[in-house]
Amino acid sequence: MALTKQPYKGTRDFFPSLERQRQFIFKQMRKTAELFGYEPYDGPLLEEVELYKAKSGEELINEQIYSFTDRGNRFVAIRPEMTPTLARMIAQIHRETTKPIRFYAIPNLMRYEKPQKGRLREHWQFNVDIFGAPKRQGEFEILQVAVALMENFGADNTMFEILINDRSIVEIIFKKIMKLDNDITYKLYKVIDKSKKVNKEALTEMVDKLNLSSNNKSIFYEYLSLKSFSEASKLLNKHGEELASDFSDFLNLVENSNLKNYLTYDPAIVRGLDYYTGIVFEIFDKHPENRRAICGGGSYADLLKIFDEPSVPGVGFGLGDVTLTDFLTTHKLMKNFDIPSNDLLLTIQDDRALLSSINLAEKLRDKQLKVVNHYETIKFNKVFPLAEKKGVNFVAFIGENELNNKTVQLKNMKDKTQHTLPLDNIDEIIKVINGNSNRS
Ligand code: HAM
Repeated sequence: MALTKQPYKGTRDFFPSLERQRQFIFKQMRKTAELFGYEPYDGPLLEEVELYKAKSGEELINEQIYSFTDRGNRFVAIRPEMTPTLARMIAQIHRETTKPIRFYAIPNLMRYEKPQKGRLREHWQFNVDIFGAPKRQGEFEILQVAVALMENFGADNTMFEILINDRSIVEIIFKKIMKLDNDITYKLYKVIDKSKKVNKEALTEMVDKLNLSSNNKSIFYEYLSLKSFSEASKLLNKHGEELASDFSDFLNLVENSNLKNYLTYDPAIVRGLDYYTGIVFEIFDKHPENRRAICGGGSYADLLKIFDEPSVPGVGFGLGDVTLTDFLTTHKLMKNFDIPSNDLLLTIQDDRALLSSINLAEKLRDKQLKVVNHYETIKFNKVFPLAEKKGVNFVAFIGENELNNKTVQLKNMKDKTQHTLPLDNIDEIIKVINGNSNRS
């Protein structure tokens, strides 16, 4: 039986136009992170499953991880997320590294999911994280980076919003006000995490299963109906509790910055991963046909403790290439990458010109021009469709006449002007090409 030509379910082949699009997205990601002083890092594709068991949450471990036992009997997984790897790396270096530590990466991750719009089994995820920043500055800066990236793609607050919450508010409500134990607290987090994805009846059913007292149930539903941080604060005050004192500093920073145009409080955002301890957020597409999370993140104060290291508070986010591409396409912000970009198509109209054309190409490449050789003789009328496919601004012709006169003919594809230049006058050839080409 013949083998399938299709890639493994939920993964993609990146043919050149898709690869160009992906490289463009990566370039914007790197540029944005580096504008804020973040440094690139990477880690291994495989980690011991234990690393994820510690804090990544049930769903990831039980349903999504690709795991196997290696030949040395180690139980390993293909990375489903980057944060545990990063925490492991930070645990190695934090003592001798000046804080804050600002790192970014664009790893490919694998999760065993049912492939659908916005969800694949392999995706690339822009991870931006900061460790050991002064309290609240880290959260603020991470949100700034996320917004800057989106704005660099041409997006604005009519297109996306950041739904934000703080797990410490939820902790106070669950632990201090509702006095729930760890087990019920954990389950209620999962209920909140699913609350927006299910209808009212299903939500009621999930809550009823937890056998909360009627008083606790009404506090829980009151919590879910909160519309702003100030309403959250009032709910806490009503029960003799209050928001952490530095929280108002954070809100103050937000109120006086561009972020205020994007942030919306949402009690249903708690995030499925267990390591988050403070703010948690998701960037949502506002387009009704693409209401999904493009990015998720938050702060995690204690992740380093799983390595027996002291707490070094981290904040970060992961933003996936699949959801970002859907967002950019939906809002018509994605450029067309069907055609490559080259400087010159070098053609011959006489077999004897082959050597001259190869030599000329070599000299032009030495000067950093992107030159595509066409090795077989080609008629004039066939050259132009080929030039379009190769995305060049200039075509060079070497035929019998040019061979006899030791010249090359250059044709500008845009304005159709023609230049006949001596073959050995490389500087002049470059001047013509550079003077007219739109090289990026
Ligand atoms: P996450 O919410 O699991 O967070 O993933 C972050 C983003 O990655 C999602 O919003 C989505 O854009 C993308 N993503 C996740 N799974 C898939 C998938 N199966 N297919 C396509 N895209 C996907 C994390 O992974 C955290 N470790 C992020 C983080 C970094 N938190 C702090 N630092």
